Amino acid sequence: MISLLENPLRVGLQQDRIPEPQILVIFGASGDLTQRKLVPSLYKMRLERRLPPELTIVGVSRRDWSHDYFRDHLHQGIEEFGGGITNPMVWDSFSQGLFYCPGDIDKPESYQKLKAFLSELDEKRGTRGNRVFYLSVAPRFFAEASQQLGAAGMLDNPDKQRLIIEKPFGRDLSSAQVLNRQVKAVTNEKQIYRIDHYLGKETVQNLMVFRFANAIFEPLWNRQFVDHVQITVAETVGLEGRAGYYETAGALRDMMQNHLMQLFCLTAMEPPNSLEANSIRNEKVKVLQATQLADPINVEQCAVRGQYAAGWMKGRQVPGYRQEEGVSEESTNHTFAAVELRVNNWRWQGVPFYLRTGKRMPKKVTDISVHFKSVPHLMFQSAAKQMNRNILAIRIQPDEGISMRFEVKTPGNSLRTRSVDMDFRYDAAFGRATTDAYARLLVDAMLGDQTLFTRGDEVEESWRVFTPLLEAWDAPVDPKQIPLYEAGTWEPVEAEFLLNRVGRRWRRL
Ligand code: BG6
Repeated sequence: MISLLENPLRVGLQQDRIPEPQILVIFGASGDLTQRKLVPSLYKMRLERRLPPELTIVGVSRRDWSHDYFRDHLHQGIEEFGGGITNPMVWDSFSQGLFYCPGDIDKPESYQKLKAFLSELDEKRGTRGNRVFYLSVAPRFFAEASQQLGAAGMLDNPDKQRLIIEKPFGRDLSSAQVLNRQVKAVTNEKQIYRIDHYLGKETVQNLMVFRFANAIFEPLWNRQFVDHVQITVAETVGLEGRAGYYETAGALRDMMQNHLMQLFCLTAMEPPNSLEANSIRNEKVKVLQATQLADPINVEQCAVRGQYAAGWMKGRQVPGYRQEEGVSEESTNHTFAAVELRVNNWRWQGVPFYLRTGKRMPKKVTDISVHFKSVPHLMFQSAAKQMNRNILAIRIQPDEGISMRFEVKTPGNSLRTRSVDMDFRYDAAFGRATTDAYARLLVDAMLGDQTLFTRGDEVEESWRVFTPLLEAWDAPVDPKQIPLYEAGTWEPVEAEFLLNRVGRRWRRL
C-alpha cells in the first residue's frame, strides 16, 4: 500500500465555491431520476452547506401534483434512495424551496405560466433571476423544450440562464448535428451543459491530475512505450425495465459513444494549457478528430457485438435479453460491444485502444489499463511463462484507485520473476466516500463551470468515430448471427479473438 500526500491540484475548477441563489427547474420531475438521484444529491449538498439556503427547485411535468404532494414524493425518495432525512431542520428549510408547476412540454402557455411563477419565486426567495433548466425528459423533447424556453424569453441572458441536457444527445452524427443546431438557435454554447455523468466521477477527474501533475508518467505515455490501452466498463445489471429505450440504443449508443469515449479522451488527449473549460475541451476534440475505428471499411475486423443469454448472477437465475419484458424474441440488439480504435497522431500512431462494455457481466467494474511494451530482451525466467508487461491500471469504480504491475524476483536461489501489484486505494488513503457524480455536476452547472460537460463539437466528433459501425449494426441481420454470452460471464468468444489473434488478451478484472 502506498501512502499518498494529498495533491493540491483540483480539477474541475472551484469545487469549494458556493453557487449564487438560484432556481433549478427540472423538466420531467415526476420521473425516477429526480426522485432517486437529483433531489437526494441536492439535499445531501445542502447538508454539507455546499448550496445556498435560497436554492429553489421547481418540478415541471404533466402530472397534476400539488407542491405538497411533490415535497412528500421527494421526501420519500431521500428516505429510500438518499440515506434518509438525517437532519429534520435542514429538510424543513430545504423543502420550503421545493415547488411544483404542472405543464405540457409542447404548449407555449405552460412556459408562460412557468415564467410568471419563476418571477414570483425570485421575489419570494431572493433568487435574482438565476436559473438552471434541467431537461430530464425523453430525448425527443430536447429540441422542443429548448425552443419553447427560448421563445418564452427564458434563455435570453447567457450569464444567468443555463440549460442542462441529459443523454443521449442524438442517436448518430446527423441527428446530433440537427439537435445542436436547434438548441443553439435559442442559446449560446456557454449556456449549454450536456451531461455525461461519468465526468462527474471522482476518479475520472483524477485521471487528469494523475497524468498532468506527475512528472514520471507523461514521458512514457506514448507509442514508444505503450503497447496498447484497454478501457472496460462492465455492468452486472440487465435491462432494468428500460426496453423501450434500450432496444433502440444498444451498448454502442448507451455507453460506448459517451461514457467510454470520455474515458478514452482523458486518457489519450494532449496536456491542456490550463484547467479552463475550453482548454480541456479543445484537447478532447483534437484527439477525437484524430481517432477512427481500426478498420472503418471492414468493421467486423475491429468490432464485436454480443447479447446476453440466460445465465446465473450471484446464485440467481436470470433471463436472457430476448426474454426480458418488452424485448422481441428475435431482437438483434446488442448488450455488449467491443471495438478497437486507432489514434492517428504523433503520440499514438500504431497503438490500439480496445474498448469494451456490456451488461450482465460477472462484475461491475470500470477500469482503464495502459499495457506497456515488453523489455527488449528478457534475461530471466518468468514464472508466468509469458509476456511480463508492466500495466498501469486506473480503477474508476468500485474500489477507486490506481495500481502498477511490475516484475520482482521470487524468493529463493534461482533468478525467477513474478508480477506483483503496487496499489493505491482512494478509501484507504482518504477514508471518505467520494462525491456523487450528479451532485458534482449540478453544482458545477450552477457555478457556470462547463469543464465536466461535453461541448457540441465533442459530441459530434464522438458520433463521427462510430458512424461506420452504427451503419453496419443498424442494418437488418439474422438473429442467429448475433454472438451470445451467458449472463454472468465475460465477453463472447468473438471478442476474445479480437485480441488473441494479435497475441494480446483482455485484462481479467
Ligand atoms: C447510463 C446508462 O448512462 O449509465 C445505463 O444509460 C447504465 O444503461 C449507466 O447502466 C451506468 O452508470 P454507472 O454510473 O452505474 O456506471
